[in-house]
Amino acid sequence: MHYPSKVQLIDVGPRDGLQNEKQPVPAAVKIELVHRLQAAGLRSIEVTSFVSPKWVPQMADNAQVMAGIARQSGVCYSVLTPNLQGFEAALASKPDEIVVFAAASEAFSRKNINCSIAESIDRFAPVVQAALAAGIRVRGAMSCTVGCPYEGEIAPERVGYLAGLMRGIGVQHIGVADTIGVGTPRKVQAAFEATLRYFSLADVSGHFHDTYGQALANTLAAMEIGVYQFDASVAGLGGCPFAKGATGNVATEDVVYMLHGMGIDTGIDLDLLIDAGVFISDYLQRPSGSRAARALLTRRGTPA
Ligand code: HMG
Ligand code: MG
Repeated sequence: MHYPSKVQLIDVGPRDGLQNEKQPVPAAVKIELVHRLQAAGLRSIEVTSFVSPKWVPQMADNAQVMAGIARQSGVCYSVLTPNLQGFEAALASKPDEIVVFAAASEAFSRKNINCSIAESIDRFAPVVQAALAAGIRVRGAMSCTVGCPYEGEIAPERVGYLAGLMRGIGVQHIGVADTIGVGTPRKVQAAFEATLRYFSLADVSGHFHDTYGQALANTLAAMEIGVYQFDASVAGLGGCPFAKGATGNVATEDVVYMLHGMGIDTGIDLDLLIDAGVFISDYLQRPSGSRAARALLTRRGTPA
């Protein structure tokens, strides 16, 4: 089995992680979290989203958070933009990358962004054009690529169909997301294989929520077919407000522990990453969702 020798991780904790918190998390805490993630060696951080504050109140401080970050060169700061209104609001914050997000399931598309898949593509097309014209990279995210909370199992053909639409409007990189964490390795591989008909390996990444405890296995399964870029969330934070019961993304600490144990380079300092996870877990007053972090903290003598 040939695994990649290097894996790139995007920490989506400040966005995917915190969007789901009921209590407001102050901008200063979000900014400190981003600072700690970059200090730990993360080279790509999903900071916030420019979505409707009525739909996701937790991200209402998007511009304030972006303005407060002391940027490090070589770090990519990305934000979600569901439409031109969000993109225009994001522009002043000078993101390095924007993310347009669609779903492989019609029902989830409507619940999450209040429109059909086809309508979402029509909304994204001018956003993608405007971003590329402004020199901003464009990533796409595809939700519910193996299962949907409303429609059940999702066939790989539907993932391929959406990937083709995203490619058609000029999206440069695509994330294959298991939003509710129901995927198992072969199903996840099938979703990637459908996507790889439209995007090259260098332009795809995995995004696995860990609801059913499958995310590390799914990460490894994606690596078996050559995928080497993954989203993860420090302390395993998060979920999606429109996908009931979905827990957080796979914890970045757990992915890093696994990869380093396999001799695979991530450029991340696990100790500093664990400190970042302790910082946000302490703020949220709950133990870290990372099994590796909890175990290593016990070894340090400071159990979570
Ligand atoms: P809508 O209600 O259909 O939009 O929402 P609209 O165009 O009809 O506008 C209605 C109101 O929203 C207006 O305000 C607009 O100004 C405002 P009003 O006149 O009522 O005061 N509005 C906005 N405000 C701020 N920023 C904007 C914006 N757009 C409109 N960009 C919309 C459509 C997409 C905006 C809405 O459905 C929304 O914001 N949804 C949030 C979706 C979201 O953030 N979901 C979580 C992130 S996706 C995710 O977690 C999955 C992922 O992690 C991958 C995975 O795991 O699957 C990426
Ligand atoms: Mg997600």
